[in-house]
Order: sequence, then structure tokens, then C-alpha cells
Amino acid sequence: MEIVENLCDITIFGGHGDLAFRKLMPAFYHLCNDKYLNSESRIITVARQNMSRSEHIDLIKVKLQEFLTKKDFNELQFEQFSKKLHVVEIDFDDEKSYKNLQSLLEEYPDRERVNYLSTSPSFYGSICKSLSKFELITSQSRVVLEKPIGRDLKSSRKINVEVLKYFQESQIYRIDHYLGKDTVQNIMALRFSNRLFMPLWDSSNIDHVQITVSESVGVEGRWGYYDEYGAMRDMIQNHLMQLLCLVAMEPPCSLEADSVRDEKVKVLRSLRLMSPADIEQKTVRAQYSAGSSEGGPVPGYLEGEGMSESTTETFAALRVDIDNWRWNGVPFYLRSGKRMRGRNSEIVIQFKNVPHSIFANKGSCISENKLVISLQPKESIQLKLMNKIPGLSDQMRLQQVDLELNTPLQTTHKPDAYERLLLDVIRSNPTLFMRLDEVEAAWKWADVILEGWAENIVSMKSYSAGLDGPSAAMQLIARDGRSWHDE
Ligand code: BG6
Repeated sequence: MEIVENLCDITIFGGHGDLAFRKLMPAFYHLCNDKYLNSESRIITVARQNMSRSEHIDLIKVKLQEFLTKKDFNELQFEQFSKKLHVVEIDFDDEKSYKNLQSLLEEYPDRERVNYLSTSPSFYGSICKSLSKFELITSQSRVVLEKPIGRDLKSSRKINVEVLKYFQESQIYRIDHYLGKDTVQNIMALRFSNRLFMPLWDSSNIDHVQITVSESVGVEGRWGYYDEYGAMRDMIQNHLMQLLCLVAMEPPCSLEADSVRDEKVKVLRSLRLMSPADIEQKTVRAQYSAGSSEGGPVPGYLEGEGMSESTTETFAALRVDIDNWRWNGVPFYLRSGKRMRGRNSEIVIQFKNVPHSIFANKGSCISENKLVISLQPKESIQLKLMNKIPGLSDQMRLQQVDLELNTPLQTTHKPDAYERLLLDVIRSNPTLFMRLDEVEAAWKWADVILEGWAENIVSMKSYSAGLDGPSAAMQLIARDGRSWHDE
């Protein structure tokens, strides 16, 4: 079946970078195979070096073979896909070189244009300025901004102000790829299409929420970038905050982009700003030391790069409080780290226990109900309930069982988050992208903690690569009489 999507020219700045090879090209390749790209649409890579179109196509083929599974790569499909691929050389220090892009885009002046900025954010302003100078921005143009948009509120504002000189807010798509993950979108489906959860979703019934994103990998050759940002800026301020918003937000009045984003921003504005005492008690920052991971020994964060010093955290854990009616007194525990025991991302909603147990003197204790939303490695949703152990025993013995809420995949290929998000940009649907006020509210909250860390209010802890993170993270939650779901 031919699906007719908007006809557009998509230009990728930083098109020979890691993200483009690992994520963007594979996503476009799948969209093309699944007929989600208009057959006339073009994907234009902006490269720094001069390269012929056939050299570029050969390079993309090699990269797709590297980053797609064997089963997903197909010569015939690649041949179709390669018809869409174009390359232009632009040297950001030589504005005249934008003429190369201009000649290509002007072949079809009426097409919608998507500009994907996957460069260092320091180039975002100048790229937009040059696009404007060469009259390459139309009312139908969109610009996609990859994170990180700045290192703090001030630098993020500076970048956004620059981009907003040339694009309207409605044309700007700030990407957070976590929002493109199917299970993440399912949080809204689960919450707002099941009446069952409606009366339970508040401080009367929920004890606390845990959000964990652990990775077994280290910084993977991205030390230069990572050391500037660290876990708080790379993961917590954006990905984990977005997950927190979806769990905590009020029901939007519709699925319209602004209805959803209005509710998310209210959550971000309700985050309690931490005092120095809060930073000391409610935050943990740590760096990994040598250990073993993925079946072999791995060096520590600094040793791997031959560095002697860095104050960048590769792990962060926090207790976050939301000051509004629904969440009063319900802590959200967040943690994220590199070089952890395994790749594991999940959201755990832990309900309060029953007010009185009639099973206590039968020797059965009742574990609290939990809703566990797993994003990685496997996507799944489980509701943990108590159930009677079958049998004739006169003891009413109970056990916790999982109610699985998983839907079998309708297609053979499971779409990656970038496929969903790129398609939404093509369709001009900004619902899953961050609005300016969301980004700013998240920075406002994070800045206070980052400043406290810069002043050493809380010392940097250490944890061995391949284990469960610093003991301080266990203590953080244990102080409140709770424990992490996986402990
Ligand atoms: C990126 C971070 O945004 O997300 C990386 O910059 C991190 O450091 C990655 O590894 C994690 O994404 P995912 O989808 O693999 O959990």
C-alpha cells in the first residue's frame, strides 16, 4: 500500500556525524522501505568535505550495513533508498559554500523543507542565519534541534534566541528521542484511556515513583562531548525529566501538541527548587572507576582517556519533589549512569500498601502493588499484584504475580524512536517535541543543582564499572525507608 506523506527535502547538517550514521540514516532507510517517505522526497547530507554523490552513497551503504541488522539490510531496498540521497559540501567558516545547498533546494522551490541540525549547538545560530541569508527558509520550513541545547538556562536561551530570529517557535522541533519510544508514548495511553488508573494516580494511593536509566556502555568515544555535560545535563535534565512529566502531568484536554505541552510545562514549573541542604541530602553524583563490564575489564572514566582530573559525573541520583496537589508528599527518585551492571531503563510506580492486612497472621506478607514500565532492554508493562497460591492448604498463602500488559507487534520491524520522530517532523506534528518553555523550566530546576555541585556542596562519589552504582544512591532512598526496585 502506498502511503502518501508530505513531499519534502530533508537536509541533515552534521550528516557525516555519529548520530546521522547510527540513528538518522537507518531511520530514513526504514521509513523509505515502509513507504513512509514520499517517493520524491530527498535526503540531503551536508558534509564538510567535497565528495561525489556516488562516493556518498557508497559511504551510507557501508554505514547502514554496520548499524542495521543483517536481516534489515537489503540490496534492492538500498538501491531504492539511494535514489533519495544527495550530498552538498558546506564549510561553516565560508558562508559562500551555502550556494551548494541553495542550487539543490531551488530545483524544487515549493517543497516543504526540513533542516535537521545535528552539529555542535554552537553552530545552530550561524546555520539558521545562513539559511535565511540564502533565502532557504520558507513558511513551510522546519528546523530540528538535537540536544543538548545549551549547558544551562543562560546558554540554552542564547541558542534559542538565535534560532528564533529566523524560525517561528511553531517551526522549531526540539528533539528528545525518549519521547519517540513506543513504551513512553504508551504511558499516556495507559493513564488516559484506562479509568482504572484515574482514581489511583495521586498521593492518596501512590507511595513513590522511581525512574532509572542505566547503561552498561561508557562514553563510547564521545569523551570530548560527554565531559562537558555529564549525566545531569546529558540524561536527567531532558530524558528523565520528560519521563517524569508524562507520569506526573494532569490529563491534557486533547492530544493537540499544545494541550500536551501545556500540562508538561506545569509539572516542570512545580518541581521544588533545591536548597543547599536539599542538594546535600537529596542528590548523589559519582564517576565510575575501573571494573569489568560486558564480559571484560574496563578502565575508569579518567583512565580510559589518560586524564588525571575531571569533575564530570557519569552517574546521578536524586530525590525530586513536585509541589502541587496531586503529588504532595510523593517523592520521585531518579537515577542514571554509565557503565552500570546492565542496560536497564524503567519507571516504577509503587502504590501504598493496603491499610490493614487480614493475611498477616497466616504468615503471608503483602507486597505493595507496582506498575513497572520497562523501556529497555525489553519494552514491557507489568502490574504486580498479590494472588493466592493455588492449593488446598488451610493457610491462605499469597504470592506476587505479574499481570503483563504487552501488545504483540503488528509489524515485523519494530520502529526505532527516531523513525517516529522524523515522521512527525515530516507530518508537521510537534506533540512529541519540546517547546521553549519546557526546556527553560527544566534548566531552571537543574541549574540550581548544577551550581550546588560546582560549589562542591556534595562530594563526587566513585563506583566500580559494571556494578550497581555508588552506595550513596542506595542510602539516598534508604533514608526514606525505601529501596530501589532492583535491589
Ligand atoms: C543520548 C545520550 O541522548 O541518549 C547518550 O547523549 C545516551 O549518552 C543515549 O547513551 C541513551 O539513549 P538510549 O535510547 O540508548 O537509552
